[in-house]
Amino acid sequence: MKTMTMAMWAILLLATLLGSGVDARRLPHVVPSVGGYQFHSVVKEYPNQQGFEAKLVVPASPSRNDTLGRDIASLTFIAKIENSTRLRVYISDAAQPRWEVPQSMIPRPALSAESLDSTPDQSPVLGLTYTTEPFGFAVTRIATGEVLFNSTPPSDGTEGFDPLVFKDQYIEVSTQLPSGASLYGLGESTRSDGLKLKPGRTYTLWTTDIAALIPDIDLYGDWPFYIDVREGGSAHGVLLLNSNGMEVSYKENSLTYRVIGGVLDFYFFPGPSPLEVMDQYTQLVGRPAAQPYWALGFHQCRWGYRNVTVVKSVVENFRKAGIPLDTMWNDIDYSDKFLDFTHDEERFPLKEWRGFVDELHANGQHYVILVDPGIGIAYDDYQTYKRGLEQDIYLKDDDGTPYMGQVWPGPVVYPDFLNPNATPWWTNEVQLFHDQLPFDGMWIDMNEVSNFCTGKHCIWNGTIVPDGITTCYLQCEESNTNLDEPPFKLNHFGTNEKLGHLTAAMTVKHWDGTTEYDAHNLYGMSEAIATKKALTEVRQKRPFLLSRSTFVGAGAHTAHWTGDNKATYEDLAYSIVTVMNSGMAGIPMVGADICGFYDMGTDELCSRWIQTGAFHPFSRAHSVRDNDNKELYLFPNTTVSAQKALGMKYQLLPYYYTLNYDAHTKGYPMIRPLFFAFPNDPKTLDVSYQFLIGNHILVSPVITANATTVDAYFPKGTWYNMFDHSQVVSKGETLTLQAPWDVVNVHVHEGAIIPMQEGALTSTEARKTPFTLVVALPSNSLLSSASGDVFLDNGEEIDMVVKAYQSSYVSFKAALNDKNGTLTSHVEHGEYALKEGWIVDKVVVLGVDSAPSVVYVNGKPSLAKVMHKEHKLELSGLGLPIGEEFELSWK
Ligand SMILES: *[C@@H]1O[C@H](CO)[C@@H](O)[C@H](O)[C@H]1NC(C)=O
Ligand SMILES: *[C@@H]1O[C@H](CO)[C@@H](O)[C@H](O)[C@H]1NC(C)=O
Ligand SMILES: *[C@@H]1O[C@H](CO)[C@@H](O)[C@H](O)[C@H]1NC(C)=O
Ligand SMILES: *[C@@H]1O[C@H](CO)[C@@H](O)[C@H](O)[C@H]1NC(C)=O
Ligand SMILES: *[C@@H]1O[C@H](CO)[C@@H](O)[C@H](O)[C@H]1NC(C)=O
Ligand SMILES: *[C@@H]1O[C@H](CO)[C@@H](O)[C@H](O)[C@H]1NC(C)=O
Ligand SMILES: *[C@@H]1O[C@H](CO)[C@@H](O)[C@H](O)[C@H]1NC(C)=O
Repeated sequence: MKTMTMAMWAILLLATLLGSGVDARRLPHVVPSVGGYQFHSVVKEYPNQQGFEAKLVVPASPSRNDTLGRDIASLTFIAKIENSTRLRVYISDAAQPRWEVPQSMIPRPALSAESLDSTPDQSPVLGLTYTTEPFGFAVTRIATGEVLFNSTPPSDGTEGFDPLVFKDQYIEVSTQLPSGASLYGLGESTRSDGLKLKPGRTYTLWTTDIAALIPDIDLYGDWPFYIDVREGGSAHGVLLLNSNGMEVSYKENSLTYRVIGGVLDFYFFPGPSPLEVMDQYTQLVGRPAAQPYWALGFHQCRWGYRNVTVVKSVVENFRKAGIPLDTMWNDIDYSDKFLDFTHDEERFPLKEWRGFVDELHANGQHYVILVDPGIGIAYDDYQTYKRGLEQDIYLKDDDGTPYMGQVWPGPVVYPDFLNPNATPWWTNEVQLFHDQLPFDGMWIDMNEVSNFCTGKHCIWNGTIVPDGITTCYLQCEESNTNLDEPPFKLNHFGTNEKLGHLTAAMTVKHWDGTTEYDAHNLYGMSEAIATKKALTEVRQKRPFLLSRSTFVGAGAHTAHWTGDNKATYEDLAYSIVTVMNSGMAGIPMVGADICGFYDMGTDELCSRWIQTGAFHPFSRAHSVRDNDNKELYLFPNTTVSAQKALGMKYQLLPYYYTLNYDAHTKGYPMIRPLFFAFPNDPKTLDVSYQFLIGNHILVSPVITANATTVDAYFPKGTWYNMFDHSQVVSKGETLTLQAPWDVVNVHVHEGAIIPMQEGALTSTEARKTPFTLVVALPSNSLLSSASGDVFLDNGEEIDMVVKAYQSSYVSFKAALNDKNGTLTSHVEHGEYALKEGWIVDKVVVLGVDSAPSVVYVNGKPSLAKVMHKEHKLELSGLGLPIGEEFELSWK
């Protein structure tokens, strides 16, 4: 059945679109060790050479029927240039449809040619070639010919690298990698070995309720996406849009996917910068949700705030200690018998509780409550459960009855958030509860989905077992179908547990017959989608929610935290990596439990942790019930560190909020690995424990005990300490910085203009203060420039957009020519900022070596106070409305 030996067709596809620069190299033709598909024929060509559909077949002999199942005889292969920066490769059974991530969760263009732009105006960046025997495909960066993904086994026969395998419950595809590739992503898991993926590791993607303190095993989320940075610094992204369980094994020169269901639906994003990859990727999976302004402030939580008196006193203690606090939280403690949307009238008397929340609001603070998906069934008068039953929105066991598991309230059923009727039911429950208590945000926990039992057909004997039992007391049958135990075992829990271990059985059905086997990894995200809708409808403001379980694209709906960690320095270090990984997955609003969830830790650890955690976008302290109280203010040194670090975060809120806007509009992570801003500096590729806020502010925290210095890598250029404006000039080197117990090193890079306001104890107060612009110019440069911008709106408008009277967008440019400097602003829609009365009162220019003789504002000599010291020029008392364009100059 030899048809073509080479993909002439694909070459045509590229040639026509490009005219030149086509990569027409023949891919090596190899004989597979076992199995593989053959390219049979082109079935359909899409117009304008934008893709094709082909048929792949299993060679008559040897057709594989092994322990992993039988090869699917005939496959559809589709290659489609969806637009200039997105190439899609789709492979599925030609005979029948298979499970795919629902369009309702991640909308995407249809595979058919009709979805294509009839007149593409840009040439594609990526091209595709393929081999026929065995079938393999390669994705190429057209301009350079560089091969980014190549599923054809290398001719030297790398062990374990087989051609495509496609069975009902086992799909295997590999790609060759050049040595010197740097890969990031493939989460979610806690990484013991830093940010960059390490050859030799296998990453298990299966959402699991495991404590995040355990590194290198499957964890709460499923992010089948990676960014690959090649020598020379160009990056591309690869998404396998598939919600089934999978393992991805990384060897020195290859990456192998082993997926237990669904289809192969690959999307390739060409970058070439890491930020462009994020833009292209989030265009598909969803732009990150805009976060309310207050969510960027500090949050306090613990499990074990037993009554409203305690919660009140914590808020009061923060104020007394002079530590900022925007949002107070309650874990499950407020509820009656752990039931969602209830309260314990004895410990949280509604009147008093509501009075407390009203008081928070009056003080410009906010309140978030926890809600779990498990709906308790043990109480006859529990209306939330009954209404759900009437709406018939619970997951079903294989006998058609609601599937019973056990979580905090004892026996529970689980809403099926894929069921369109579940969202109205959920919204109604949120509404009814919100009518009683006007909370501001929701924390959706335990949504992997977690279960204290394993199995199906569980029976509850009617005894209500007291609080806090996490061992199963239901009688469940084992579920032993090929869904619970597929032929390929995932390394679930790190111990090859059954897929249904401590979650819903794999035979459980969603409303349309979808099995839990296929949809398991989507549970958290489906709950997040419903919760975001509910909160928006109920509050009519920009929603805030926090989800433990996520899938790619969940960032479009929810914030995330790194999960149950521990008060150790290792966990502090892990948190830095997980936060960057979450940002790269498209979930930029993320942070870790500051000071650790489990264990008490020490003043020193907590001090170091707040110095890091303050600068994460989501900054929350949280702690387990068994701990004594460990709020920041209870430790003397931590109190000082919190005042300093959160003090800086609060001054930087306009900058963070603008990053929130960039995340929402372009998918850029707020917290970035160094290589995001310096992709051409190969030394940044291995930096795991420092991070950038945006592209310009570098945080180099201490993550070890007893340290008084920190070794930090500084990409080339001039950097200024954000606290004292002292200068570091780097050739691109690791420097040792002083870091006594109360110091965190935070530096701004040359070329940036950072919008800041004054610190305060709430973001509501901080927002009312005048602006300072910090302009960072390189030292000893005769000709230099800097730029920056700020997005301003009321912080909780549902849509975060630049729009007249609703928001203002101001960009700043500075230039220095010898001793002549200018700073100008450009305003889009100034009305909103003018209405708010915001002014720029101070400008700090770093990198100015001599005092100016004159300062002009809008062409007139300025009355501003001028101060010059060493490399710093400070102009204060400017009183310039930020909503009006201005020009400042000095000579
Ligand atoms: C594959 O092998 C199994 C087990 O040996 C057998 O039951 C099944 O019939 C085989 N299927 C095909 C299509 O050969
Ligand atoms: C690429 O295609 C998708 C889907 O049609 C579309 O949403 C997106 O805006 C396109 N991007 C560009 C850069 O054209
Ligand atoms: C609230 O809880 C605290 C700590 O558990 C306890 O000491 C206090 O007596 C309780 N107060 C009320 C009013 O229940
Ligand atoms: C029901 O189960 C609980 C928990 O296992 C057990 O303590 C109790 O004795 C059982 N009750 C009956 C009536 O079997
Ligand atoms: C705590 O602060 C004091 C100064 O107030 C300092 O001497 C001491 O070393 C600090 N302790 C730790 C553990 O950082
Ligand atoms: C830090 O110092 C303490 C007290 O001197 C000591 O017990 C501990 O072992 C030191 N830890 C490390 C990691 O050096
Ligand atoms: C700086 O400004 C002065 C006075 O306007 C002018 O004479 C001089 O040429 C300027 N220098 C540069 C480098 O532009």
